[in-house]
Amino acid sequence: MRSIQVLLVGVCGYGANYIHEISDVRPEGVCIAGIVEVKDGIEELYPIIREQSIPVYRSVEAFYAEHQADLAIISTPIHLHYEQIQYCIRHGSNVLTEKPVCTSVSGAERLQEEEKQFGKFISVGYQLDYSRDVQALKKDILAGRFGKPLLMKCLHACRRGEAYYHRNGWAGKISVHGCAVNDSPFNNACAHQFQIMTFLLGDQPDSAASLRSVTGEVYRGNPCVDNFDIAAVKAVTNTGIPLFYYTGHPCREKKIGPEAQYSFAEGTVYFGHDFGNGPINEYVFQKKDGSIINYGTIDKGARLQKFYDAIQAVRDQSRPVCTVQCAIPHLQAVEALARLAVTDIPSGQVEVVSEDGDTFHEVRNFKEIFQICYDNQLMPSDVTDSWRN
Ligand SMILES: NC(=O)c1ccc[n+]([C@@H]2O[C@H](COP(=O)([O-])OP(=O)(O)OC[C@H]3O[C@@H](n4cnc5c(N)ncnc54)[C@H](O)[C@@H]3O)[C@@H](O)[C@H]2O)c1
Repeated sequence: MRSIQVLLVGVCGYGANYIHEISDVRPEGVCIAGIVEVKDGIEELYPIIREQSIPVYRSVEAFYAEHQADLAIISTPIHLHYEQIQYCIRHGSNVLTEKPVCTSVSGAERLQEEEKQFGKFISVGYQLDYSRDVQALKKDILAGRFGKPLLMKCLHACRRGEAYYHRNGWAGKISVHGCAVNDSPFNNACAHQFQIMTFLLGDQPDSAASLRSVTGEVYRGNPCVDNFDIAAVKAVTNTGIPLFYYTGHPCREKKIGPEAQYSFAEGTVYFGHDFGNGPINEYVFQKKDGSIINYGTIDKGARLQKFYDAIQAVRDQSRPVCTVQCAIPHLQAVEALARLAVTDIPSGQVEVVSEDGDTFHEVRNFKEIFQICYDNQLMPSDVTDSWRN
């Protein structure tokens, strides 16, 4: 079996997962051809670099001047993705990029053209799409097992404080060096639960439903953050299915949800639903007659299944399931939310809390307000006046 040569671009943030996976698992037939990273001293962090004499460069240009790779894995700040993906594709590599694929729908469409022109794939790192339980659920949706989709909604928030926002130069920023970043919980930490709704409604195993419209309300609870840090979103797919999504960072709870409900003519798919014995963090379909299909019994695959699927796709000359098209509806929603005016939550509604060496901004009654919104498909302004001056 020919060894697949992998280039890792960005290894000190989320990208550490890939180098750890390769170091720990040593997958057969996979070889790190090189690393591109701007931080110094990574040889100290990752012993595999010295052990295997892996060349380290500061730019993709410098790497490709001396080497080639079958697959480039890009885990850099999101405003760098477009140019790095383009460069890797043009120099003969398939690409697995972290989400979002880039910073605009028009950029994503240009990357689709590059894929065609250079005969390579771009696979996007929304990991839920690669999970085998999600794929089984989607197969049943596509087979019409639950009837017509009617409405999907999800609530997912996670608390993030100063340490998160100060970990790099782009967290929470609207733009960096003139390039739109639109970093927010919707675009970053809580991106997955919105994207998965569009993916599940795609009319092919490897497509996502396009969006006809995106509206919503965006708020800033943490005044130190450039962009909004709370979003309530209503999107409608091109076939008229409404999607509601509620997310944010300035909450008291470390984590809220994910709690999701996908309604179909024949019943409902739940995630995080409490059937009486506490929330079940698995996809469960409950038919109107009460019968249940629990997708949690299906083996989800590897934690980094997206990596293994990309390796396999290189071998098979196929392409992984999360295509650039699958990333576009989420990106479309990111751009639509960026056009909304951000409302600052009155400071009297925000408590500043120090905990575990970090500082958090916590909006009072965040969970209660969003729970009412989620239960009734409402916007925060329908539920409270307290988030506006
Ligand atoms: N799939 C997930 O669940 C998940 C989770 C977190 C982050 N991400 C994604 O991973 C990507 C990176 O996010 P992060 O939080 O790790 O960002 P980060 O800024 O904390 O880390 C980015 C890494 O890229 C390096 N880097 C910066 N400029 C570079 C350049 N020009 N060339 C090479 N390397 C460079 C940095 O030194 C760092 O190692 C983003 O796309 C983000 O959305 C995905």
